[in-house]
Amino acid sequence: MARYAHIIGWGKFVPPNILTNEDLAKTVDTTDQWIRERTGIAARHIASAKETTAIMAVHAARDAIEVADVNPAEIDLVIVATATPEYPFPATACLVQDALGAERAGAFDLEAGCSGFMYALTAATGFIRSGIYNTIVVIGSETLSRVVDWNDRATCVLFGDGAGAFVLRGSDEPGGVLASILGSDGSGGELLMVPAGGSKHPAGPETVLSKMHTIKMNGREVYRFATRVMASASRQVAESAGWSLDQIDLFIPHQANVRIIDSAARALKLPPDKVFVNLERYGNTSAASIPIAVCEAIDSGKIKAGDHLVMVGFGAGLTWASCAIQWSAPKPGVIAPPRAAVSRLRYGWSSIKSIGSRLSRRVDAAVSQLIDTLERKTPEE
Ligand code: ACO
Repeated sequence: MARYAHIIGWGKFVPPNILTNEDLAKTVDTTDQWIRERTGIAARHIASAKETTAIMAVHAARDAIEVADVNPAEIDLVIVATATPEYPFPATACLVQDALGAERAGAFDLEAGCSGFMYALTAATGFIRSGIYNTIVVIGSETLSRVVDWNDRATCVLFGDGAGAFVLRGSDEPGGVLASILGSDGSGGELLMVPAGGSKHPAGPETVLSKMHTIKMNGREVYRFATRVMASASRQVAESAGWSLDQIDLFIPHQANVRIIDSAARALKLPPDKVFVNLERYGNTSAASIPIAVCEAIDSGKIKAGDHLVMVGFGAGLTWASCAIQWSAPKPGVIAPPRAAVSRLRYGWSSIKSIGSRLSRRVDAAVSQLIDTLERKTPEE
């Protein structure tokens, strides 16, 4: 029997600290009017030193798990889509797996720029539809503020921080993620990149002084590329799901620039009430933008069970990706306090166990070293 991948939980986290256009205009040569007119952005959330990619991912995932009403021990896999991981390695997903107490789960990061969440959703759907796994947490989490050049007005006005997560579960019931389109054109890689910190330009005094660890972007070219792929990838995915364009109930695009979104909506002949836009308050949160938008669309009553949704992203790589989803989950009720208390207890217990594992590893290493030393000191008989 065919398996389907349903989205049964969702959650988001944005740092409380807000940076408005007016705030930015005090530090770089820009204006609120220019930013609003050219991008549609009015403000963005910026992570504090304590709010890292993994921490935000954990907040979003816990909310999604709460909505799904799933025990973390049932999770088979954690995928974190991010271009701003906690470290080069270990994967951010492993830190999240530990913090969730998802003891049985595998974990890996996925990097496909702002298309990352759509890529991760597609990968998770493949695991579920093939019967390999049944319960998967997919997260998009970004701290782009850490890789922005705050003196470059052409990029620093665009980005923000945040995280969004889905819980996916397999079922024989038709619905959920029905089709995906993934695309890449590496010939455009240099149009949007952080040049240093990898094997080509490892970190060193020179790379730091020349700001090679910050975002470099050819905005006009990325804009041209985005307007082209957003509409075509959406059209292809709808066709692949067997839908006509007028069957789309809600279009949830990557939130980078309202002009790019408008142009795609025009090409798809979608009226404004079928297009979800929230970038005014968040800016471009890269891999987190689509799941954050989905959470807000649900909260504002724009998504109901049975709806046909098309989500589409584009970004560094260059990459693009779209998913056609028949929404199956009903809107959740208020999470009952006893359940929330049980979750708090569960996460508290997971952190104690995680600390216990670290301690026991240290004790184990110390004791092994002591035994080695004693063995070396003991004269051979
Ligand atoms: N404030 C004031 N003026 C500015 C600013 C600013 N913040 N930024 C640029 N300008 C100036 C430029 O210097 C230029 O001045 P000039 O004509 O004297 O040279 C003028 O405004 C016009 O610049 P353009 O680059 O042509 O402006 P455009 O209308 O193309 O808008 C923008 C620039 C907003 C960056 C647009 O090109 C865009 O959105 N591109 C797509 C970017 C994107 O979505 N990137 C994310 C991809 S996803 C990922 O994976 C991270």
